[in-house]
Amino acid sequence: MMRQEITSMNAVYSNMRRGDWARWTLLAIGVIATAGCFSPAAQFELNMIAVHKRELESEATFSTQYQLQPIAEILEASFGTPDNPVLPPVPGIEDVLDLEKIKMAAGPYGSDENGKQRGLYRQHCVHCHGITGDGAGPTAAFLNPYPRDYRPGKFKFKSTASGQEPTHQDLNRIIRDGAAGTAMPSFKLLDSDEIEALTHYVKYLSIRGQTELYLIEAEFGELLPAVVKPASERNAEEQEYVESLTEEELEEEKAEFLEEVAFFESRENIVEEVVGPIVEKWMNAGDEVTEIAEKPEMEMKESIAKGRELFFSAKTGCAGCHGESALGDGQTAEADFYDDWTRFYYDPNDPSTLEGYLALGALEPRKLRPRNLRQGVFRGGRRPIDIFWRIRNGIEGAKMPAAPPIVTDEEIWHLVDFVRYGLPYDALSENEPHQPENVRVRN
Ligand code: HEC
Ligand code: HEC
Repeated sequence: MMRQEITSMNAVYSNMRRGDWARWTLLAIGVIATAGCFSPAAQFELNMIAVHKRELESEATFSTQYQLQPIAEILEASFGTPDNPVLPPVPGIEDVLDLEKIKMAAGPYGSDENGKQRGLYRQHCVHCHGITGDGAGPTAAFLNPYPRDYRPGKFKFKSTASGQEPTHQDLNRIIRDGAAGTAMPSFKLLDSDEIEALTHYVKYLSIRGQTELYLIEAEFGELLPAVVKPASERNAEEQEYVESLTEEELEEEKAEFLEEVAFFESRENIVEEVVGPIVEKWMNAGDEVTEIAEKPEMEMKESIAKGRELFFSAKTGCAGCHGESALGDGQTAEADFYDDWTRFYYDPNDPSTLEGYLALGALEPRKLRPRNLRQGVFRGGRRPIDIFWRIRNGIEGAKMPAAPPIVTDEEIWHLVDFVRYGLPYDALSENEPHQPENVRVRN
């Protein structure tokens, strides 16, 4: 296809030289028509928002040659491209990522030479989640909440506690069932094989994204490239810094810098220092599933009543966010509430840097609201166990805290009953807002 394209472009140019305008126009139309089936190889994009953030923090700009390029090379050597994924040689990685399945989801939509399905991710997910999994596909800007950015490896609806990776099963379930009340659709109609492939692909994009973030923030981001840059590329702070060094110090720092960069030319070092620890956390996610005490036998009505009491108690603090009437309008809801994905680049107390991030493709910050629980819509699933996990562990990245440890598992079960059966089914009109006598005083 590429060769054909070039040949026809040559034809265009030689015709132009002859000045045969009518023919040229016809050929040009032909080229435009065939360009539809010619798409350049898809590329992962570098996480420039993270780079920019690191640059602001360190008051230095990344060197293309010594930082950005090596990061891109390490990522490509370790994970390949969107059309041709590979896996880094981390021992045991096959327990987390299945390359055959990843290949089913990767690449352009269609089938390979053996008739095997490919391109599921681009067929079903890319317009929201983006080719790199940055949650900023072309549709994203119109949605609230925004699609997940997989790159920090943080997920909301999982069986593990905050700070832990989700299990394979958690991701598989959200892809199958979708997130009710959001744009995240259910993919129940796909084969279980296809959902498996997509689950592996999401993990692949996450692990790749976490590796990238670690390289940007911790490894290459900690190097100050001023010493290796030509003077014309230094900013004022960098120039000042270099001028403060003696010739000897400058040479020393340069050598140190180049040594640090050279460390990552070794594949072994990358696996051991960077990718290995990330993969390990995913490997262990299954052991981190929050164990749940069995639900005690109890009359539902009684359990709902206990749950109601707990919901409005200072012990749980639920009403502080979800409100006296559970409409999601508690006092905390007034505060500057943004999720962690937004907080990464947006500080409501200092909005001055926002513009720079928006120019790099960051999405306009959207306020997060505690859920209106009277609607009975549960994004993370409506099975009792789903709600149990949400209350016990909180919702990572979304300001919903884990229930305090003094709240027992039995009490969580009462809250589950209240949230599932107490709230949505008692019509607001018939129900006076709860009198907040046992809720801490507003200040
Ligand atoms: C129309 C847009 C859209 C499409 C298409 C879409 N998603 Fe999503 N997805 C979302 C939104 C929005 C969220 C965030 C929901 C939230 O934060 O509550 C999300 C969240 C997710 C999550 C994170 C759940 C969590 O626990 O944090 C995963 C995983 C996911 N999507 C996978 C996929 C996969 C795989 C596909 C394709 C098969 C896909 N999505 C297609 C919009 C979309
Ligand atoms: C600091 C504020 C805050 C507190 C306290 C809080 N929540 Fe939430 N809660 C939220 C936010 C924000 C969301 C929406 C998160 C999202 O984007 O999915 C939420 C969502 C929920 C959901 C919906 C889960 C789903 O799958 O959609 C339930 C159920 C819930 N909270 C119950 C509770 C209970 C019960 C308590 C008390 C133990 C509580 N919350 C305490 C902020 C809070």
